[in-house]
Amino acid sequence: MNRRFLTLVLLTVFCLRLGGTIAQAQVGPNTPRQPPSGLRALAMKRHLLLGTAVRIRLLNPNTDGGRYERAITSNFDMVEPDNSLKPPALWQGKDVYDFSTPDLLLGAPGKTGWAQQHGMTVRGHTLIYGRDDGWTLPNWLVTEPGRVVNKAVEDSMTKAEATDLLRRYIFAVVGRYKGKIAIWDVINETIADGKNNNPYNLRDSFWFRKLGPNFVALAFQWAHEADPAAKLYYNDYGIEGLGPKADAVFALVKSLKDQGVPIDGVGMQWHIGMETHLAPGDGHYRIAQRLKDNGIGFMVTELDVSVPVVVYPKSDPLYGLVPLRPADLKTQGRLYGDVLKYALNFPNCKGLQVWEFTDRYSWIPDATIGRLKQTPPGEPQGAATLLDADYQPKPGYDALKRVFGGK
Ligand code: XIL
Repeated sequence: MNRRFLTLVLLTVFCLRLGGTIAQAQVGPNTPRQPPSGLRALAMKRHLLLGTAVRIRLLNPNTDGGRYERAITSNFDMVEPDNSLKPPALWQGKDVYDFSTPDLLLGAPGKTGWAQQHGMTVRGHTLIYGRDDGWTLPNWLVTEPGRVVNKAVEDSMTKAEATDLLRRYIFAVVGRYKGKIAIWDVINETIADGKNNNPYNLRDSFWFRKLGPNFVALAFQWAHEADPAAKLYYNDYGIEGLGPKADAVFALVKSLKDQGVPIDGVGMQWHIGMETHLAPGDGHYRIAQRLKDNGIGFMVTELDVSVPVVVYPKSDPLYGLVPLRPADLKTQGRLYGDVLKYALNFPNCKGLQVWEFTDRYSWIPDATIGRLKQTPPGEPQGAATLLDADYQPKPGYDALKRVFGGK
């Protein structure tokens, strides 16, 4: 190679690198940037399923210049649709189902969808939302507005009719996605926060009133028959630490197991905030240990860590994003790391899933700032996820990397 050619090559390489540097320096708030990568590989090494809640309609290369999709595929190997498999999304009329959105994720029968094309394990959420308030009930059962139970529909239905209807629903949904949804939340949030006189403190819900407490065992049994390979979970919030609600869940799940009902584990949601402390040997660890001692698996299913935020109107780009105290992001980071440490500590912990991964799409501001309309007002919260609204890593993301790395 002659010297002039070599100089030319070196000059070209130098210019290309300079170009790269200039291009980087020119990245502005609207320029798509690469998402961070690597959690997915780290989690796989530790044999922990690492998942996130997703909004199915955003799962395409066009969302935010591809950043939404890439952040998922590089960081997670499990996804769970946030709302699209809930009864109000699917169950339009008695025996009338709308599968159009979940089919995008899972494929219609005989086809594949986004999940299979990207090698994702799918958690299904949730066959029964065991409470009557909020966006939980099938559409044939509610009166609008307010989505309260339609008394006339309830009163006109016999126990046998309701039982049959629920059985057909579970077979239709689980059956359609047989072999595609590896893990199902069979029942969500059906244990009351306060004490009541029902067995296991079950909530006074439509399914409880119609079928009695046995609706729980029946739902697990039917889900198992519809897809014998699927792992089946009971999922709830506020059961991560010691207390009567965690005890009620434990008693329910243990009794189901003792009766031979097919149940694999407990989903602990882990929607937490700045007040949470977590350390080896504390109540959180004792709850997980009690499950382990009884041969019961668990997952962290909906982890997010809320911080108090400045209130902006919903139309403002800063809505739900600006911490009241910037130092809270450090605490948030530590908590994300502490929850991962706890998950890795227990062989019966089958996975850790976050409830959305970028502050750009998180339910926390709507859930907490919306509550300000109530008396007494809740504290406005937000900025609860691993990446900021521009898909850049926050301390929580770095903490997960560190803990996966053994630090
Ligand atoms: C939330 C969704 O993220 C929101 O979009 C929706 O408005 C309300 O429900 N526990 C659960 C999840 O089990 O289904 C909830 O998801 C969050 C709390």
